[in-house]
Amino acid sequence: MAGSNGHYPPQQRYAHITGWGMAVPERVVTNKDLEQIVDTNDEWIQSRTGIAQRYIAVDPRETTATLGTRAAMAALEVADFPAAKVDLIICSTSSPEHTFPATASLIQDALGATRAGAFDLSAACSGFVYGISLASSMITAGQAENVLVIGAETLSRLVDWSDRNTCILFGDGAGAVLMQASSVPGGVLSSVLGSDGSGGDLLTVPAGGSRQPATLETVASGQHFIKMDGRAVFRFATRVMTEATREVLEKANLGADELDLVIPHQANIRIIKSSMRQFNLPEEKVFVNLQNYGNTSTASIPIALCEAIAEDRLKPNDNLVMVGFGAGLTWAATAIKWAVPDAREVPVWRAGQRSATYGLARMRSRFLRFSRRVEGSLVTDEGDAWGEVVSKRIESWRNVREE
Ligand code: COA
Repeated sequence: MAGSNGHYPPQQRYAHITGWGMAVPERVVTNKDLEQIVDTNDEWIQSRTGIAQRYIAVDPRETTATLGTRAAMAALEVADFPAAKVDLIICSTSSPEHTFPATASLIQDALGATRAGAFDLSAACSGFVYGISLASSMITAGQAENVLVIGAETLSRLVDWSDRNTCILFGDGAGAVLMQASSVPGGVLSSVLGSDGSGGDLLTVPAGGSRQPATLETVASGQHFIKMDGRAVFRFATRVMTEATREVLEKANLGADELDLVIPHQANIRIIKSSMRQFNLPEEKVFVNLQNYGNTSTASIPIALCEAIAEDRLKPNDNLVMVGFGAGLTWAATAIKWAVPDAREVPVWRAGQRSATYGLARMRSRFLRFSRRVEGSLVTDEGDAWGEVVSKRIESWRNVREE
């Protein structure tokens, strides 16, 4: 039972996914399209990876933050939950908008999630599952009630479009879930997180960080693009996907025969098949949609989750495992008992209310930017009476909270 403050005591708290959403750019790039730019062919790509097409953010206005924001809005809509009541936003990404500020903060601003903390999580393609594990721990420990976990990427901006080893693999997109505290048993049952930094060089963007800051030389030699040893990553991936799945099932006290659905990271159909072989799962229990999206890195699992739900592949009390691997090297798995609350009656006016709220968030953001500029130009001397008045007025505006 929730206490008078609406919080559940720790021993009765469970972390459930209550909303989900995804977003992809408009432009579809097929394998045939890629034949025009690198020495490859549709047959090779399909047989070696399973990928037939991917979505690419060709419009420069479409970014990791805009995709992440759209996915988060969709998740909030499914849960019928206002952005202003979100406590925390975790954005997993390997293609953040900037070194800083965090992409999560930009999404927080766009949503008008004025009460939320926000940070980016860097664990490459495993990041979304890391985020689920973290959000669940915060929720069950009583540190948070409503957490948005987002996986968002525009890796196409980091891909060397003349390198056939990598450019055929990746796609852009975002997926998000809202996780909420509940007294209903289930939700996240167990998690496994892993890393082996000795394999960091197998999949990396070498320059642009503090180790090799951007110079004319790093740009000219293509050091800002993704470099990958595909075969080594393949071997690592098949091993850790199997191990992480086995471990997370053990931790959740579940046998492989009790599994209802696995959502693996959508990197390569051969990796998925070979890593799942040991569990003897029928094909319909392993969700695959990489043929349509390519490898969207940390967005691949939440996008697949959205499609699995849309296809009715998850039912109440089903046991779900999500498992990923990626640069780092990293890997992560989580076992979830799917127990989403019954669909609520959402009043018809809610959509209008929601879009008005997002409009207000945009106005609020513009006002705060403007007010900072005004403040900067008026407050010249310390103790300046007029400056102080303006400053206080702005501060009180800043504290305006949207309900
Ligand atoms: N089109 C046509 N031929 C290609 C090609 C392409 N896009 N890319 C590579 N080839 C060629 C190679 O040059 C090689 O030719 P060779 O035998 O004459 O030297 C041949 O195909 C086989 O290359 P290989 O690297 O052994 O292919 P592969 O079966 O290992 O498949 C990957 C390559 C990248 C698809 C595969 O290794 C893979 O998926 N690795 C994991 C990558 C991954 O998941 N990264 C993301 C992690 S989150």
